[in-house]
Amino acid sequence: MRKKIALVGAGQIGQNLAMLAAMKGLGDVVILDVPAYVNVAKGKALDLMEMAPNGDYDANVTATSDYKDIKGADVVIVTAGKPREAGMTREDLLAINIKIIGAVAAGVKENAPNAFCIIVTNPLDAMVYAFHKMTGFPKNRVAGMAGTLDTARWRAFIAMELGVSVQDVAGTVLGGHGPDMVPLPRLTTVGGVPLTDVASKEQIEKLAARTREAGTEIVKLFGKGSAFFSPAWSAIIMAEAYLKDQRRVLPCAALCEGEYGVKGLFIGVPCLIGAKGVEKIYEIKLTDEEKALLAKTAASVKKTVEETAAVKA
Ligand code: LAC
Repeated sequence: MRKKIALVGAGQIGQNLAMLAAMKGLGDVVILDVPAYVNVAKGKALDLMEMAPNGDYDANVTATSDYKDIKGADVVIVTAGKPREAGMTREDLLAINIKIIGAVAAGVKENAPNAFCIIVTNPLDAMVYAFHKMTGFPKNRVAGMAGTLDTARWRAFIAMELGVSVQDVAGTVLGGHGPDMVPLPRLTTVGGVPLTDVASKEQIEKLAARTREAGTEIVKLFGKGSAFFSPAWSAIIMAEAYLKDQRRVLPCAALCEGEYGVKGLFIGVPCLIGAKGVEKIYEIKLTDEEKALLAKTAASVKKTVEETAAVKA
């Protein structure tokens, strides 16, 4: 039987997710959005059906505003929510998006209780925390998409700076999806060569700073709305790793219960993603300096989670 991928949110990221899921042959796609937006969602689904003959896929792509239509979904990717606009921080979105996540959590819990759920809505670390709490799903089946994106940006900027293929740049970014995320130059390599051997301290600091502000850089260029191509690809590789049991090791926001000294927060850490979802969190032996940076980002995530709880109360 074909797999079913439910996409909650038919905006820019949602539409790219639908196209990627279809083109990668991951399964049939159901796009869900609120009634006021469902015709746009239906238009996008129909457009993708009409793209299929030349796009070389046979996925069935539909759209709905009724949660019953996501029944039995294998994967749910949540992008619903307001995107950031210029001058807005991710936290400014909190009050609006927590209400949306509440409605989504209820609908998913009722109709797709066995799905692997990937949350993309910002502020990411607080929204994935809330979704997990509201659904009560096991922690291995709820993950936030941030690390795969932040790491992609880190790799892209390094490749651009050094003039090398991005395919040969490997590394990871830990922590929350905000300006104090933690790129790890010490563990980043270019074709196996340590980044610290091929780039100066100043270059590395510039690349790390650009990575931390990469989402904002795009928001400023757009004026309205935030990035969508790279976030969509970043979520789709998580879904693919789960659906195909690829056992990829990807940086994702996962519930830490003591790992990295973080208790009870979703934070970006290297995760093994396979058929059971987040099967394992890998712990890196960090230096004291890296530990301090991680403690700082964890404190910011905790603050946002607490602010979210206050909004709901
Ligand atoms: C970004 C948004 C999607 O980082 O969080 O671009």
